[in-house]
Amino acid sequence: MINRDRQWQSHMEMAQIGATPAGGVCRLALSDEDRESRALFVRWAEEAGCTVRVDRVGNIFARRPGTEKELPPVMTGSHLDTQPLGGRFDGAYGVLAGLEVVRSLNDSDTQTRAPIDVVVWTDEEGCRFTSKTMGSMVFTGMVSEEMVCEVLDPDGKSFGDELKRIGYAGSEPCGGYPIKAYFEAHIEQGPLLEQAGIPVGAVVGAQGQRCFIITVTGEEGHAGTLPMDQRRDSFLGAARMTDAINRVAFEFDPVPVATVAHVQVRPNSRNTIAGETKFTIDSRHPDADTLAALEEKMLDACRDIAEDMKLDIAIDRTSVAPPVSFDITLIDSIRNAAKELGIQYMDMFSAAGHDACKLAEIAPTAMIFVPCEKGISHNELENATPEDLAAGTKVLFEVILQAANS
Ligand code: GLV
Ligand code: MN
Ligand code: MN
Repeated sequence: MINRDRQWQSHMEMAQIGATPAGGVCRLALSDEDRESRALFVRWAEEAGCTVRVDRVGNIFARRPGTEKELPPVMTGSHLDTQPLGGRFDGAYGVLAGLEVVRSLNDSDTQTRAPIDVVVWTDEEGCRFTSKTMGSMVFTGMVSEEMVCEVLDPDGKSFGDELKRIGYAGSEPCGGYPIKAYFEAHIEQGPLLEQAGIPVGAVVGAQGQRCFIITVTGEEGHAGTLPMDQRRDSFLGAARMTDAINRVAFEFDPVPVATVAHVQVRPNSRNTIAGETKFTIDSRHPDADTLAALEEKMLDACRDIAEDMKLDIAIDRTSVAPPVSFDITLIDSIRNAAKELGIQYMDMFSAAGHDACKLAEIAPTAMIFVPCEKGISHNELENATPEDLAAGTKVLFEVILQAANS
């Protein structure tokens, strides 16, 4: 049976790696902290009798063997990287829930027919190297290993070099083999479960997402001498565009989400007018057509502002992820497991993106959500209770067992 206290202890130990003074975690992808958290996971997995493999983009697979070696694995996991001011549970929960399932199977000496792989995906968060779910996208064949390895962080360090530096450029090819089922446990990152007083969400799908980098180019000039009416201020343009993007979102019903949150200003000097400003747009909606319409309206608004202000604009669409529906058989197995365990559950949609959204392209996939305090996530205050984490893990245990023996 799932050991609530052991799972919580592991969470607290993992959360010490990259711990921030305000109680959160900073473990950027492929940083020293990422390396340390990977090493801790590998140690725990090996202590639990797993064999660990690392693929060429650093995805880690800890395998608990099945009695029938040839069967495709049942896979579960998530990520250990975090936002710069992230929390203790986003990602880590799915990895440690998988580990707890393995430990619990060991406690009762339970064999499964299919092997079970607990996976740590590389760079889910996408806040250091531009695009998110890098490891799972290479694994599922959506992008090439070469492309991902060339991506640079803001300091000009490449994904490939940083992967080697932390010692996780493995030798295994990325993906290319069948997976019986993929389950990902995650905190909800929103308020619905907590508000409903329900410990488990059976996740039926996830909303789509489109991301962009907008580069606005004007002209540098002296902040004291250049008259206001003669300026081509790229930052002022970006600010007006940000406001327009926000207003455009409110024209839709139900309202999509559109966020500008990463801005780079050049030369970033108090007394030089900003010659170039780059900013990101992260836009999301459950309906693919709405997302496409939102893109058109947002980008048109940005182009109009650029024209009015005599600024140049370059638009780079960095990612398009369609809305995802998870596998109905696996969703049912989650519902049934919760019922049999006497754990209240509700169906829900994921507003956040996850590695599971990529896995859904190549394998039957579903997710289990648990509540987090006040729905707060991507925030150092992110919190969850040992009971809720254990409730989700109990359900995960049952559905893995069922999938691995069927
Ligand atoms: C993942 O953290 C996301 O951006 O949804
Ligand atoms: Mn996550
Ligand atoms: Mn996240």
